[in-house]
Amino acid sequence: MSAEISRDIIKAAELLRAGKLVAIPTETVYGLAANALAPDAVINIFETKNRPHFDPLIVHVSSAEMANEYVKDLPGVAIKLMKAFWPGPLTIVLRKKNIIPDIVTSGLETVGVRMPDHQLTLDLIAETGFPLAAPSANPFGYISPTSALHVMDQLGEKIPMILDGGDCQVGVESTIIDCTSEIPTVLRLGGTSMEKLMSIVGEVNLDTSGGSAPQAPGMLLSHYAPRKKLLLGNIHELLHDHNENISILSFRDQFHNFKNIRLSETGDLHEAARNLFSALRKLDEDSTTMILAEPVPDYGIGRAINDRLRRASHVG
Ligand code: TXA
Ligand code: MG
Repeated sequence: MSAEISRDIIKAAELLRAGKLVAIPTETVYGLAANALAPDAVINIFETKNRPHFDPLIVHVSSAEMANEYVKDLPGVAIKLMKAFWPGPLTIVLRKKNIIPDIVTSGLETVGVRMPDHQLTLDLIAETGFPLAAPSANPFGYISPTSALHVMDQLGEKIPMILDGGDCQVGVESTIIDCTSEIPTVLRLGGTSMEKLMSIVGEVNLDTSGGSAPQAPGMLLSHYAPRKKLLLGNIHELLHDHNENISILSFRDQFHNFKNIRLSETGDLHEAARNLFSALRKLDEDSTTMILAEPVPDYGIGRAINDRLRRASHVG
């Protein structure tokens, strides 16, 4: 049996109501969704992804009003952030109500809520009437999927349906911001830049340290990783020591005589983010044994790209 790929939200809603999993498109990456209010459905997500139970899931809603049903209080900053960035690539961590099962939040008192910017998925949530718990639709630790075919390649045999919403338009996961502290704290860099967040709420802390019992395991050092070794640095310098059997992932420069994917020929960071994960997948699948990659300019969404490249790179 392999997954049906279609745009049929009525069928997707039926499956979700029956406690099954459906892969859903969002503007960031594809998610692996279950009814967030049904623990028996949510448990399938962890099994299908091989995901550790200490890693909490994001709850997807179709409006700010819907988010409000699942959180204890909405601080002023959270309201401002929702107004400015929803629908969009921003997950807001707030104190949860009991109706959100513990398995969704790994026992935390908080829940990450987000309204994705993809009409098909917003229609699906409206159709079901319940929120969708969804991590990225990849095996734990591997590169996130940005097309229905990416999901098919890895989870196609394990789930009944992939809702096809085309290629993801942002291409890196949502930014996660914790609004339960006095000063909001970014736990994961992502599709909404620090600069944009600060323009709306002023002071914002950044704490992506994670550690061994991370608050956001997306922050585990080795994550979003290809199977091949990836070295991150100045490509010309890396080429001194490694010039055989390698592929190159560059920002805009072209490297002749090598297998080379350029993230954006025009140097556009948004285009680079959109291309990042599919480029990593292609290079992971080709016949070389190592990937050489370089950081992109470290501002705006470029910071999220560099974060993912670091986590994809070989450590130690
Ligand atoms: O763009 C995205 O956020 C995608 C799409 C599908 O929405 N989802 C996604 O989910 O990236 P996932 O599970 O791969 O990453 C979610 C991260 C995890 O690292 C998790 O630890 C963190 O969000 N998270 C979820 N709830 C949290 C909470 N209450 N407190 C702190 N971190 C939380
Ligand atoms: Mg993920």
